[in-house]
Amino acid sequence: MSDEQPELESYPPSPEFAANANATAALYDEAEADRLAFWAAQANRLHWATPFTEVLDWSGAPFAKWFGDGKLNVAYNCVDRHVEAGNGDRVALHWEGEPVGDARSITYAELKDEVCRAANALTDLGVGKGDRVAIYMPMIPEAVVAMLACARVGALHSVVFAGYSAAALRARIEDAEAKMVITSDGQYRRGAAAPLKPGVDEALSGMGDCPVRNVLVVRRTGIDTPMTEGRDLWWDEVMNTVSNEHTPEAFESEHPLFLLYTSGTTGKPKGVVHTSGGYLTQSAYTHFNVFDLKPETDVYWCTADIGWVTGHTYIVYGPLANGATQVLYEGTPASPDEHRHFQVIDKYKVTIYYTAPTVIRTFMRWGRELVREHDLSSLRLLGSVGEPINPEAWRWYRHVMGKDQTPVVDTWWQTETGAIMISPLPGVTDCKPGSAMRPLPGISAKIVDDDGNELQPAPEFGGEATGYLVLDKPWPSMLRGVWGDPERFKETYWSRFAEQGWYFAGDGARYGSDGEVWVLGRIDDVMNVSGHRISTAEVESALVGHAGVAEAAVVGATDAHTGQAICAFVILKEHAAAQSTEDMVHELRAEVAREISPIAKPREIHVVPELPKTRSGKIMRRLLRDVAEGRELGDTSTLLDPKVFEAIRAAK
Ligand code: WT7
Repeated sequence: MSDEQPELESYPPSPEFAANANATAALYDEAEADRLAFWAAQANRLHWATPFTEVLDWSGAPFAKWFGDGKLNVAYNCVDRHVEAGNGDRVALHWEGEPVGDARSITYAELKDEVCRAANALTDLGVGKGDRVAIYMPMIPEAVVAMLACARVGALHSVVFAGYSAAALRARIEDAEAKMVITSDGQYRRGAAAPLKPGVDEALSGMGDCPVRNVLVVRRTGIDTPMTEGRDLWWDEVMNTVSNEHTPEAFESEHPLFLLYTSGTTGKPKGVVHTSGGYLTQSAYTHFNVFDLKPETDVYWCTADIGWVTGHTYIVYGPLANGATQVLYEGTPASPDEHRHFQVIDKYKVTIYYTAPTVIRTFMRWGRELVREHDLSSLRLLGSVGEPINPEAWRWYRHVMGKDQTPVVDTWWQTETGAIMISPLPGVTDCKPGSAMRPLPGISAKIVDDDGNELQPAPEFGGEATGYLVLDKPWPSMLRGVWGDPERFKETYWSRFAEQGWYFAGDGARYGSDGEVWVLGRIDDVMNVSGHRISTAEVESALVGHAGVAEAAVVGATDAHTGQAICAFVILKEHAAAQSTEDMVHELRAEVAREISPIAKPREIHVVPELPKTRSGKIMRRLLRDVAEGRELGDTSTLLDPKVFEAIRAAK
């Protein structure tokens, strides 16, 4: 089979899968018949302390209110109610540590105890409704407990990926004015314990007016950890002094649940705000239907980190709201060796596996023989998220890991959408490799041209025109704003199609021959590296932060392994130009790691004498992308100095 016409391939669910699936085609009809009644029914799968009477209030668009007069406690929905329903002995988390043999299974009853203790501890330390708590932790059960404890007391968590630098952590703590940081002494990285808490100290010491009153530190690695008297507390010591009884308070449906910082087109990351009732509704609904979750029998595993939205929605809130049993794994796929993921699947008899295309491509490089040494027969559903999945990887995934049997769901969504928006329903959809297929029941999306006209999905036009992917109706788990910056919220997402009132967050797409959606990737200055979202402006600002750099331009170039790779072009200041280029490039890569994270380190940095600019001074990234991808240059007619490329090519 070739990559050329994945559009003509079709993979229907097996009759057995279809017969037992949670979602049937009727779900589309129900949503179609009455969208708001449909969402009300989904919301009523949750426990509401005060039932809602109004489903949607869109009068303050683009600020939505879903289930606005209802009240609920998100943590109660994710934990207590399963215990009360008699499922306290069900395993919530099969935690698998990075060091082999370090594992722990936690039931819903045990999780409830831990969340209650942590909630009491937060209350004792003065953290309550509306306060912000930064969580900077590896993938350990306490991270999940900390998130749920925040939710339980109405505090907003802001989880910061533990791979981010102290500088990135500081910026997020400052922006949110977090009152508390929850972290761990260290984390395991490829077999070795590395310190983490010192990063928090560094972040806080660099702050003028530090809002943080306490730092709670989980002992994970046992490495030596400096503690600041009066501010820092050991998690275990605090938890030993508090009760495991805690009565949850119900909060308004629109009470904010968390902030999650994500990259936009400027250098400053934005704090995406999600609220409670709508977010939990769509998280639970999509997790139940897209992954066909059978809570009594399935073992679900999402390989994302809790530092990303996928970890929020499809490790914490969706699965726990549904009473799922899941694997939580601390390490990377290759620790201690390439067999690890497959061993974990076999060990826990994982039935549903959700990962990113970059992981699948890594497996492909390791080869199918390695995979076939393991018993993966428990798998019955595979999912993909984070970037467009190339058809070859999709087919490999289904063939090698799914034995040509399991449905593969390619799920399109974003930090901002909160939950899955476009995806197959595994028991209904005939999938095409590389397409997220159709908006889920209850969701409305369109592909439109510059003027907002919908592209023609008719077969004769299939595959030709590309356009903007827009969401033309509000959805329950939509972001409610950018923290502290309502103008940026409107400008970023709602200005491109302001007249129509549609949401646009940067992806290009086209319709296929059956009207299905093919997402092509970002069309703004946001890069997607191994499923991690990084803005060109952020990397540029880290580069020009170095004393030797006069100017920098960054582009994402297509990369067979990571999807996109970061390519930087820098102009050095005179004094720095004397240094060897090799040393300079080394220093600059280190600078980016320090300012942002090692995941943002450019694959290549080219020292150039000039950058291509338009007459108005705008850097022409499109042309730099052509250079980075080794293509013939596109249209250079608007360039100020067309000769600039000879100099860039000579330097490259
Ligand atoms: C961007 C959002 C969704 C959670 C993880 C990433 C790209 C995501 C797909 C997919 C094609 C995808 C888009 C989107 N993306 N899933 N299935 N097919 N592209 O969340 O960091 O907010 O990034 O990831 O470009 O806009 P995120």
